[in-house]
Amino acid sequence: MAYENILVETRGAVALITLNRPKALNALNSALMTELSTALDGFEADAEIRAIVITGSEKAFAAGADIKEMQSKTYMSAYLEDFITSWERVSRVRKPVIAAVAGYALGGGCELAMMCDFIIAADTAKFGQPEILLGVLPGAGGTQRLTRLVGKSKAMDLCLTGRMMDAAEAERSGLVSRVVPADKLIEEAVAAAEKIASLSLPAVMLTKEAVNRAYETTLAEGIRFERRVFHSMFSTEDQKEGMQAFIEKRPAVFRHR
Ligand code: HXC
Repeated sequence: MAYENILVETRGAVALITLNRPKALNALNSALMTELSTALDGFEADAEIRAIVITGSEKAFAAGADIKEMQSKTYMSAYLEDFITSWERVSRVRKPVIAAVAGYALGGGCELAMMCDFIIAADTAKFGQPEILLGVLPGAGGTQRLTRLVGKSKAMDLCLTGRMMDAAEAERSGLVSRVVPADKLIEEAVAAAEKIASLSLPAVMLTKEAVNRAYETTLAEGIRFERRVFHSMFSTEDQKEGMQAFIEKRPAVFRHR
């Protein structure tokens, strides 16, 4: 499949998707988002792939939705085209997805990163929801996901002032899981993805589903869901292998089923 706005490669069981509109700081236009969805569909269906990394360039993960494409939209065109809903594809991927962010992750770029399972940031990363500066508000989950991740006060600060926060502040506030030197970003993100890809795929997918439940339901419901899923794990070959390997003091060899 030939793409114009993204690059894709596979490294063993890890797929690496690189947003690639360098002249526009990876501004997310509809062509790019369609290609991203197509690539995700392909990796989701590919049994050889067990983890996905989404990254951008050194200067920008993505500087937001494409303002030049959005500028002339009307209420009706946005509504009838269902502008943005297709972006949610990223949050519906069942396999683990890591965002590796260097440089700007602004507006839709920050929202895209937050749709991934976790964010590894380069020390050069800058996050923000500057939509307010354009006379609008975040439209791809920014007011919701950012608030859940960093709390009301910081989310309000970022969304209402449009200011950027650096990688250290993003780590302090819980937006990113770790910060690494910029020249190690891809290596670290791919290593994390490789580690996850080496583990039991059903356990990984169900863990992802269970953690995501914590954002969508009550504690009691979430615990009930986790318990059911935990019980079901005893039906997998990988559970037998994982526990047998521990007892035999050898590394487990998961068959992902
Ligand atoms: C379209 C963009 C863009 C964007 C940058 N560019 N961001 N084009 N949409 N979001 C383009 C610029 O127009 C310019 O093109 C080129 O990329 C380089 O950008 P510069 O501004 O010259 O670079 P720099 O001076 O280094 O400043 C970097 C920047 C700035 C601080 C990131 O580009 C910026 O503020 N960008 C907009 C950030 C933003 O507001 N994002 C939120 C968008 S709204 P030319 O052709 O002039 O060289 C949004 C809503 C999401 O995301 C809702 C859900 C879809």
